[in-house]
Amino acid sequence: MSAAHEVRPYRDAFAPYWHPVAYSHELRDAPLPARLLETDLVLWRTGSGVAASQRYCAHRGADLCSGSITPEGLRCAFHGWTYGESGRCVRIPSQPQTPIPERARLATFHAAERHGLVWVCLSPEPAAPLPEWPELADTTTVATVPLPRLDWDIAAGRMVEIVLDVAHLSFVHEGTFGNPDQPEVPPYDVEKRSDGLSARIVYPALAPGVGGAPPRVDRTTLTYDVTFPFAARLSFKPTLFYPHTVYAVASPWSEEKMQCFYFASYHPRIRNFADLFVKSESAILEQDRRIAEGQRPRAHPLDFAGEVLVKADRLPIEYRRALTALRSGRPVDGPPLE
Ligand code: FES
Repeated sequence: MSAAHEVRPYRDAFAPYWHPVAYSHELRDAPLPARLLETDLVLWRTGSGVAASQRYCAHRGADLCSGSITPEGLRCAFHGWTYGESGRCVRIPSQPQTPIPERARLATFHAAERHGLVWVCLSPEPAAPLPEWPELADTTTVATVPLPRLDWDIAAGRMVEIVLDVAHLSFVHEGTFGNPDQPEVPPYDVEKRSDGLSARIVYPALAPGVGGAPPRVDRTTLTYDVTFPFAARLSFKPTLFYPHTVYAVASPWSEEKMQCFYFASYHPRIRNFADLFVKSESAILEQDRRIAEGQRPRAHPLDFAGEVLVKADRLPIEYRRALTALRSGRPVDGPPLE
């Protein structure tokens, strides 16, 4: 029996989870468009936090991203209807003496701001908390640098899989971070939790040359940590380059398209880290994009049919197994690994 017949539809499966929809710095004093699981949203800042609602006005369907923020709430640019953060219309300027219809309201969604991101959950009851990354809380010891959103034509699960794929480093990332002379993946363990998984591996990566020096081979400890469904954290502890941690959080637009919020944390006393990271990581990710957008099927597979898997693939395969279990609501066996 195929797993594809048992699992929930994609949107139903992932709507109960928190997903990032914007960087915090992108949401200023104007409404901001966002999209999640084929749902168009408008985000705005309230007096106490952030709000997310349906993007189009309940009156005549105008785009609320063209509106403005007032002390009462989000005001539509077309006729000035204004919505509070609960979604209820609180002002209809064209007939101020008439009671506001009960149906004059927007569908609203849970919204929260954490880790430099704006997160939304489309379901009334979130199935899991936001990822816990306590190391980001102390800005005296940690600075962060974001990359522009990655807008790729791949499934969110495919994005996480490529982050977790150890065997591709020596091939896809030749010339940047990968070491083509060390393609063999040493044995490693995967720790499985109810909310994610983690693994640690030592990889002889190339460290970028600092100050114009050529890259050097560096013994780098990679620590992978995933929070289901689509948040990956990867810590780099090199001996020659700066230690840092990368956060890749894929946000599903649809079953076959995602945006990824990708940023790094590092010690703020490393003054040139941000410039180095943006330059080198952008080149690394472009190498990934060319491979990932070419994978088929475009939707993230739910089973392992049609793939021949080996032990070196264990981490991305354990991730897919867990994601399939999440969609089917029951444990799923992994495939045989050659
Ligand atoms: Fe928004 Fe009329 S369409 S107020």
